Amino acid sequence: AKLGSDLHIRPLASTDHKRGHLEVLRVLTQAPDVSADSYTSTTPPFHPATYYTIVILTLSDEIIAVGSLFVERKFLRSLGLVGHIEDIAVSEKVQGRKLGLRIIEALTGISESVGCYKTILNCSDKNIPFYEKCGFEKKENEMVSSP
Ligand code: ACO
Repeated sequence: AKLGSDLHIRPLASTDHKRGHLEVLRVLTQAPDVSADSYTSTTPPFHPATYYTIVILTLSDEIIAVGSLFVERKFLRSLGLVGHIEDIAVSEKVQGRKLGLRIIEALTGISESVGCYKTILNCSDKNIPFYEKCGFEKKENEMVSSP
């Protein structure tokens, strides 16, 4: 997938609070505002780098799509790495324009380049066709425990 010339993709920046990052996440779930200071001090990259967030922006510097990759170190498979894709969100006004696909391609590209032996994610039934289009296949079930 190619991005239009009116958009660009890059890693999340600690100044992205003002560009609508949390607003985009609200297509997924609750994402209440936080202060600019606490946003800046908790924005990746952490060290060692285990969490990568990618954003797509318009020419007017508004974030319209976002997604994250968490890299987990395992004890099995000779201390292998697994990539977890999390919190993919595309602003409602631009859904269906392949931005979700572009974010997934960027994150699986990072996952492969840091050496993960697989990349996995959880999603609702309704999003299965989207992830199949992105090259993923359904395997196993999710179990949840809530307090
Ligand atoms: N059902 C069937 N096909 C779909 C669906 C769907 N719900 N969504 C996308 N597709 C298809 C598209 O038609 C396209 O197919 P094509 O190549 O044949 O044209 C392909 O999947 C790629 O679609 P995109 O245009 O890249 O999808 P979009 O940019 O809208 O992003 C997303 C999809 C992320 C699900 C977006 O609609 C969204 O933000 N939804 C609300 C939040 C959400 O559910 N996020 C995912 C949570 S799961 C997680 O985070 C791991």
